[in-house]
Amino acid sequence: MSMHSDASATATAHQLGQEFVRAEGLVKDFGQHRAIDNVSLSVAKGEVIALIGPSGAGKSTLLRCLNLLETPDSGSLAIADKRIVFGTGQVKRQQVLRLRRHTGMVFQSFNLFPHLTALKNVSLAQMRVLGRSEKEATERALAQLDRVGLASKANAYPSQCSGGQQQRIGIARALAMDPDLMLFDEPTSGLDPEVGAEILAVMRELAADGTTMLIATHEMEFARHVSNQVVVMVDGAIIEQGQPEQVMSAPAHERTQKFLSAVLGR
Ligand SMILES: Nc1ncnc2c1ncn2[C@@H]1O[C@H](COP(=O)(O)OP(=O)(O)OP(=O)(O)O)[C@@H](O)[C@H]1O
Ligand SMILES: [Mg+2]
Repeated sequence: MSMHSDASATATAHQLGQEFVRAEGLVKDFGQHRAIDNVSLSVAKGEVIALIGPSGAGKSTLLRCLNLLETPDSGSLAIADKRIVFGTGQVKRQQVLRLRRHTGMVFQSFNLFPHLTALKNVSLAQMRVLGRSEKEATERALAQLDRVGLASKANAYPSQCSGGQQQRIGIARALAMDPDLMLFDEPTSGLDPEVGAEILAVMRELAADGTTMLIATHEMEFARHVSNQVVVMVDGAIIEQGQPEQVMSAPAHERTQKFLSAVLGR
């Protein structure tokens, strides 16, 4: 079929490409507690997925598993043409680094280096991990800072930046690595609503540019209007997923209904 009717004009308008992340049967235990319980998830190029669910559901842990900041106990993860099967012995450091290179992570707590300027925060990993020259890394860092509206803060230290600005530096740093997939872990929580809106605006632009994103969020309006797909996690498992309108207006699962009425207050 060459043409699709534009049924999702209210959501993002870009076309979805090929599947390039596939997690299958992921399990992660912390002692007796199963934080990730047999999770399978596939992400297509250009897709924007909102990951929602109650506190403790396992959203952060899932993102960390996809970035291999946590090593799943079993299951498999394929990104692009590389695949790791977990639980069959020690995962090699080299494999982890190769897979991780495809993802960029934005944390709730920014995780910037306090002793480095915004520019250095954004250029350092490009040089260390990707082997870019200082000149190239600096140029790209400036371009990404500009993209998030912070060209003027290039030489400022994190302590001289507001929370929202620090978060935008974190986004620029992740983007500068040219990831195929951006992982966001509640990038607006802890920020006041006005500043949060600033971050959401940046993310909306990224979505419109076709950036592939998986976003753990409590921002239901954002999930509804910006994502192509909403994934609902409860107790470590994905209980429901689908188009935002469907999941948020007519959830199939009773637990989703309960969660949505609690957060939406209706
Ligand atoms: N390093 C850890 N050690 C032990 N337990 C952990 C660890 N990290 C997470 N957990 C537990 O795993 C479960 C899932 O936590 P996770 O942080 O992934 O939830 P979440 O959905 O991100 O919650 P929130 O919305 O509050 O951020 C929780 O019960 C949590 O206490
Ligand atoms: Mg979390």
